[in-house]
Amino acid sequence: MRAVICHAFDQPETLTVESVPDLAPGPTDVVLDVHAAGVNFPDALMVMGQYQFRPPLPFTPGAEAAGVVTAIGAEVTHLRVGQRVATFAMTGAFAEQLCVAAATVMPIADSLPFDIAATLPLAYGTAMHALVDRATLAAGETLLVLGAAGGVGLAAVMLGKALGARVIAAASSDEKLALCKAHGADEVVNYTTEKVRDRLKSLTGGKGPDVVFDPVGGDLAEGVFRSIAWGGRYLVVGFAGGEIPKLPLNLPLLKGASVMGVFWGEFAKRDPRANARNLGQVVQWIADGTISPFVSERFPLEQTAAALRAMLERRVLGKVVVVPAGR
Ligand SMILES: NC(=O)c1ccc[n+]([C@@H]2O[C@H](COP(=O)([O-])OP(=O)(O)OC[C@H]3O[C@@H](n4cnc5c(N)ncnc54)[C@H](OP(=O)(O)O)[C@@H]3O)[C@@H](O)[C@H]2O)c1
Repeated sequence: MRAVICHAFDQPETLTVESVPDLAPGPTDVVLDVHAAGVNFPDALMVMGQYQFRPPLPFTPGAEAAGVVTAIGAEVTHLRVGQRVATFAMTGAFAEQLCVAAATVMPIADSLPFDIAATLPLAYGTAMHALVDRATLAAGETLLVLGAAGGVGLAAVMLGKALGARVIAAASSDEKLALCKAHGADEVVNYTTEKVRDRLKSLTGGKGPDVVFDPVGGDLAEGVFRSIAWGGRYLVVGFAGGEIPKLPLNLPLLKGASVMGVFWGEFAKRDPRANARNLGQVVQWIADGTISPFVSERFPLEQTAAALRAMLERRVLGKVVVVPAGR
């Protein structure tokens, strides 16, 4: 089978696509034919050696995928060959085949396209965990989403609306904000051209957003925190902007507000049932038309580096996927 290989922590363009032996499952594993693999910012960080952990080299990047089960381990009883599934694997998904622990695999309905299913575990799992388990976002509250047209950002916009919040989407361009509007954002803020604090003040009648979902970090964070409502919750999701912001601790005190860390991978490991419940809700909302996850581009396996480069250069709208030839 063909797989993307990372031989050294370096720029995405150093990745190669090679023929490697077919995969065989261990007793508790399944092997699937990958039909689509979701591309996430952490994939790019991992390839460059800048993620929280460095896999042993060489490795195949790609954290999540959807496809069809082709082999099951001797101890696996709840899955069958031929079943359509999605899974989070952390690495290995940018390939024609993926071997994962059967416990991480989620069966998917025939009506759910592979490219949508492949983008659900990480982005939608993270956004659900942040909004529901961490912030307990309530209907009628105001949610501000930064980086709102990106992978986790657009997921948070859609899920925030599904949970009954008033959603303010903030992003760097009018094209990105139009996408957020099309996916349900009530209000938009362009943080390249507008004064964010003034705009938040006027959009919330001076109260500020109750919940902030921040996958960007950097310069924006402190000003936005200064705008948060009394009792607000600031969700620290990621630092796509590159800088980890520092916050004076008098600000949470003055606002009676909380800074909440969001670490979906650890949550999913520690509480797989709660994660499965969250993803089940996401799939239900897709099925009944409440949300419509958006995949803007499909890259062939050979162009995985281009997909990662688009992500690093802030060009991705919603999600993009890598698709092996012929799938
Ligand atoms: N905590 C968790 O469990 C968890 C889970 C998944 C992802 N994450 C993190 O969440 C962040 C977003 O991930 P994602 O997959 O949604 O990425 P993404 O699709 O690329 O979205 C990131 C957004 O950040 C904004 N951004 C600002 N400065 C940027 C820069 N210098 N380079 C790239 N983007 C920049 C961009 O929006 P604008 O152009 O509109 O500013 C972009 O749409 C990453 O830091 C990732 O590691 C965390």
